[in-house]
Amino acid sequence: MLSCVAHRTLPLALLLAAVAQVPLAQSSAPAKLLIDAQSIVTPVSPMLYGLMTEEINHSYDGGLYAEMVDNRTFRAHWDGVGNWGVVRNGNAKASFAVDKTDGPSKGLPTSLKLTVDSASPGNEAGLSNSGYWGMAVRPRTKYMGSFYAKLGSADPGPVTAQLISNDTGRVIAEARVELHAGGWSQYQYSLTTGADIKPSASNHLQLTVSRPGSVSLQLVSLFPPTYKDRVNGNRADLMERMAGMNAKFLRLPGGNYLEGDQIADRYDFKKTIGPLVDRPGHQAPWTYWSTDGLGLLEFLEWCEDLRIEPVLAVYAGYALKGDYIHPGKALEPYVQDALDEVEYVTGGPETKWGAERIKDGHPAPFPLHYIEIGNEDWFDKSGSYPARFEQFALALRKKYPQYKLIITAPVKVASAAAQPDLIDDHYYKSPAEMFDLVHHYDNEPRTGPKVFVGEWATRSGSPTPNFGDALGDAAWMTSMERNSDLILISSYAPMLVNVNPGAMQWATDLIGFDALTTYASPSYYAQALFANHVGDGTAKSTMTGAGDRFFYSATVSSSKKMLHLKLVNASNLPQSLTLDLKGVSARPAKLTTLHAASFQATNSITSPEAIKPVESTVRLTPSHNVPAYTIEVLDIPLK
Ligand code: AHR
Repeated sequence: MLSCVAHRTLPLALLLAAVAQVPLAQSSAPAKLLIDAQSIVTPVSPMLYGLMTEEINHSYDGGLYAEMVDNRTFRAHWDGVGNWGVVRNGNAKASFAVDKTDGPSKGLPTSLKLTVDSASPGNEAGLSNSGYWGMAVRPRTKYMGSFYAKLGSADPGPVTAQLISNDTGRVIAEARVELHAGGWSQYQYSLTTGADIKPSASNHLQLTVSRPGSVSLQLVSLFPPTYKDRVNGNRADLMERMAGMNAKFLRLPGGNYLEGDQIADRYDFKKTIGPLVDRPGHQAPWTYWSTDGLGLLEFLEWCEDLRIEPVLAVYAGYALKGDYIHPGKALEPYVQDALDEVEYVTGGPETKWGAERIKDGHPAPFPLHYIEIGNEDWFDKSGSYPARFEQFALALRKKYPQYKLIITAPVKVASAAAQPDLIDDHYYKSPAEMFDLVHHYDNEPRTGPKVFVGEWATRSGSPTPNFGDALGDAAWMTSMERNSDLILISSYAPMLVNVNPGAMQWATDLIGFDALTTYASPSYYAQALFANHVGDGTAKSTMTGAGDRFFYSATVSSSKKMLHLKLVNASNLPQSLTLDLKGVSARPAKLTTLHAASFQATNSITSPEAIKPVESTVRLTPSHNVPAYTIEVLDIPLK
C-alpha cells in the first residue's frame, strides 16, 4: 500500500471520493512483482526516446513555423488567390491579379499585382490576409513584418500595414512603409500591440495604399516573437511542449513528406536552404503546399534549440505513387544529393556544402549519428529497394563510415559492406492491438540489425489520443524499455495537429493546437513521464499473477541512483500487488500518476487539462494497489 506523505494537487476529499468508487481488484490474490535493483540485465539506450514530425496536419506551415501569413507567395488555385482578399474602403476602386511574368527571384518568379484605380485617405485600397485560421495577437508584443515590392508606372504612395480585429474592426497595430522606385526590394516593418488588447486569434493583416497606382508584391510575411528569438523561427509554445518531452533526437524531415507523391515532389534539401526569396516551396503529399520556410537549416536549428540531434532521413529514389529511380547510373545524382546533405549538416568550411551552411549563418557543424535511407520502402512493389539501399549505403559508408545506417524495409541486401545497422519498424495500432503487441520484441533475435521504432502510436482518439490510447502507448513503452538492448531509438508519430476544421489529414496526433494555444494529450503526458524517468539499465525482475492488461518496466539510473518503476493498469479493475524490491532504500519515493475514468476520457483545445499528471511523495510498502485505468511512475532511491 502507499502511504501519502505529501500530495501536491489532489485535495484529500477528492482522493477519498476516488477511492470509494474504485471497483474490486482484478483477482483476489495480489500479483507478485519482484525486482532486484542491484542486478542489471540489459542496457537501456541513451537515445531511446525521440521526436518525429513532418509537414502533415499543418504541423509546420500553420503550425510550428511561426509565419502568420497564409499563402505569402500568392499561389493561385482555381478559385482565386487563397487567403487573400481585396480591400476597398469607402469608394476606393481596386483589383488584384497574379502576374506570372514578374517576381523578385528565380525561386519566386511570380507576384501579385495590386491595381488601384481610385483611393484617398479614408478610401484606402489594398489586400488582406486571414492567416492560418486567424492570426494570434497578444498584448505588448512586437510582430516583425516584411514584403518584397516593385512599384508600377504610377506610385500609389506608402503602404500602411495593420493588424485588425475581425470581431471589432479595431486597428490593433499599424506601421507605414515608404516604397521607392527602381525594381524589386525587400521592405521591413514592425507592428507593436498595446497593453489593452486580449489575446485572440480573430485578427487579420491588411496592407493598403491611399493613392491610385499599382504595386507588385511577393513574400508577404509577419512573425510573432519566436522560440529563443530565432529570425524565421518556431512558435514558442509548441517548442516548449517538445522541450518537456526530454527527447534525444528528431527524425527529419518526415515519413511520406520525405518521399512526395511524385519524384519531383520529393524533399529536395537544396531547394529549402538559403534566403527565403530563393526557396520556391514544393507540393507536399499531405494535400497542401509547403513553403519550405522551415527548411533543412531550420530543422537543424530546431534540434539545436532542444539540445537534441537529427536522425537524418535522405531521399532514396521512391515516390508514394509508385514511381522510382532505377538503381545504377540514374540513381547517382540522388546518392550525390544525400552525400551533399550530410555534408551540409556536418561539413567544415573546407567542404562545398559545409561552406554553404556557414554562408547560411551556422558556422558550427551539427552532431549526427544516424542516417535513414528512404521511408517505408516496403510499399515499393518494384523490388528496387535492396539495390537502391545498397547504392546509397555503399556511398555513404565510403565517405562517412562513422554513421549508423537505417533500412526501412526487411529486405536482403547483397553486399556485406552495405548491411544496415538498424531497421525502421512502424506500428499504428488500436489499444487492444497495442496491448497484444507488448511482447513482440521479447524473443526477437539479437543477432541482426538493431531496431528503430521510427513511427508508433496507439490510435483511436481524434484529433489527439484519448486515455485508452495513452494506456496502449504506456504499455508499449514498457516493452521498448525492456527491449532497449535491441530498440536503440524510437519516435511517436505524428506529433502535431492543427485542430481547426480542415487542417487535419491524420487522426491521433500527440499535441493539438490552434493559432493561439496548444494542449497536451494524455499520450503526450504518458510519453513525457516515461522519457523523463528512464534509467540506463533494466533491473532483473519477475511478475506473477497479474491481469493481462497490466504492464510494468523497471529501469535503473546509475547516475541518479534511482529505480524508475512504471506500472500500467489498462484494466477497468484495480491491480493489487505484492512488491518485493531489493536494493532500494527506505527513503520516500516520488509517485507521478496519470489517471482517467475511461478509455474515452481525453483532453481537447477547450478542455486542455482534463487529464494531467499528479505528483506526490510516498513511502512504499510491500502491499501496493494500482487503480483502474492508471499509469504510475515511481522514482525509488537506491540503497
Ligand atoms: O505518420 C504518418 C505517416 O505514416 C507517415 O508519413 C508515413 O511514414 C506513415 O505511413
